[in-house]
Amino acid sequence: MDYESLWAGAESLLDPAIHPLSNLANISAYIRFTLPDINWSGFYFLLDGVLNLGPFCGLPACISIPLGRGVCGTAAKLNETQCVPDVHAFPGHIACDCNSRSELVVPLHLDGKVVGVLDIDSPIPNRFGEPEVAFFTRVAARVERCLTDNRTIWQL
Ligand code: SME
Repeated sequence: MDYESLWAGAESLLDPAIHPLSNLANISAYIRFTLPDINWSGFYFLLDGVLNLGPFCGLPACISIPLGRGVCGTAAKLNETQCVPDVHAFPGHIACDCNSRSELVVPLHLDGKVVGVLDIDSPIPNRFGEPEVAFFTRVAARVERCLTDNRTIWQL
């Protein structure tokens, strides 16, 4: 994959000057439709110890995930990216789209604390490796900047 070209597109869609919801919606669709073999991409945000479904692109998904549950809850609780080659082998995996076979979840931070996750699902096993972790970590950092720069709007 030409991740430098993909990054150029992602960066142009993640504009810190516009509303965070617009940024999150557009980058979700970009990931889902621009990268091959992705069936779901989107966000969960932490509120009172529960991850709540945010903007996404894919089939309707579970609306809340307790901290520590599933791949998303594990990434948020441990503050560690989870790269799962086979979701069926991950204890407690939450199946939102039964087509998902592998998954990558990157924590999002504000003021040094985890505030949510970026979640990407693939219908093929072992879809995500080191280049994908690097790319989506870069995307997550840009998302964090969009949230930080637009903090007043985000907290409305
Ligand atoms: N599979 C995730 C749930 C979210 S969906 O994939 C959209 C998990 O186990 O946390």
